[in-house]
Amino acid sequence: MPERLKIAINTGGGDAPGLNAVIEAVVMSAQNRNWDVYGIRQGYQGLLNTEEIVRLTPEKVRGISSLGGTMLGTTNKGNPFKMAVENSSGEMEYRDISDKVVKNFNRLGFDCLVAVGGDGSLEIAYNFFKKGIPVIGVPKTIDNDLGGTVITFGFDTAVSIATEAIDRLHSTAKSHDRVMVVEVMGRHAGWIALNSGISGGASVILIPEIPFDIDKVCAHIMDNELKGQRYAIVVVAEGASPAGGSIVHRGAGEAGRQDVLLGGIAATVAEMIRDKTGKDTRFLVLGHLQRGGSPTTFDRLLSLRFGAAAVRMIEQKQFGKMVALDPPNIKAVPLEDVIGSIKRVSLSSDTVQTARDLGISFGD
Ligand code: F6P
Repeated sequence: MPERLKIAINTGGGDAPGLNAVIEAVVMSAQNRNWDVYGIRQGYQGLLNTEEIVRLTPEKVRGISSLGGTMLGTTNKGNPFKMAVENSSGEMEYRDISDKVVKNFNRLGFDCLVAVGGDGSLEIAYNFFKKGIPVIGVPKTIDNDLGGTVITFGFDTAVSIATEAIDRLHSTAKSHDRVMVVEVMGRHAGWIALNSGISGGASVILIPEIPFDIDKVCAHIMDNELKGQRYAIVVVAEGASPAGGSIVHRGAGEAGRQDVLLGGIAATVAEMIRDKTGKDTRFLVLGHLQRGGSPTTFDRLLSLRFGAAAVRMIEQKQFGKMVALDPPNIKAVPLEDVIGSIKRVSLSSDTVQTARDLGISFGD
């Protein structure tokens, strides 16, 4: 390897608080080794259309760790192995244009790529690793559904925002003796709903890992009412579904995306609760608020640790791997072991047991 390395960094998939902190840590740690870092814009788009590649100097990144979003931009539509393009008849078709990315990467003389992303982006990174690009992955997602690491950055911020929202709902729900149904993100995992629901004192938490029975949900709410609690907060994960029922989708998805857009279950749950209990019921969807704004201190520190660890892994030539939190340490795990499977809430975990001990219903 040459003495002065040339590192490329990109951020892919949905944004998450902490992305800028990873960028700052990578740039500062590289600078300390006399290496150069270049920012690739919009995931892999910047390696297809290379004009916008920017040299990231310490002056450009110092202090950005407290900022939300990503200074490099991001996308969940630009998979170079399956790029949606319009053909001559105006129809969308998918093409593999990954060779162009590899060619540009080599032409620009990069020595490695730090790919910051969730399962989709890291799978793309792994496929580039198989095509010869030295890659280091950094695990990002508010959903916390990525394996190999105890936690992903962005999750703590999302849980904090959701918990604060739930806290605020108590007073209005109580004043009106209402049931408030709050929908949180998380895709097919219930981490955000579980952690914010317990912390925020919800009466019911509905997660994808436990298909719910609406009659049991309503019985729990009415039982609490008999005991004097005349209002209820129901936290529902966007990927939750009734036993025997299906997940609610937000439309058919978007061209170029591999995942479906979830969302809308809160409205259904609220309607069912109103019909069955006769109680005044309202719902709200927290949506992208959960991804917005500054990272919590925990996420900021974790992101800085991940970024610095990524640079140490480059030094050790640990390519094809991802930085991961294994408290109290950061370790390297093969990308191969991480991609393609979802880390879901374990029903035997102490967190689930804690909820049950506190009298929270999962509708099961
Ligand atoms: O994966 C992060 C996430 O925020 C999910 O929780 C959510 O389902 C999805 O992204 C939303 O995607 P978009 O930002 O494209 O609406």
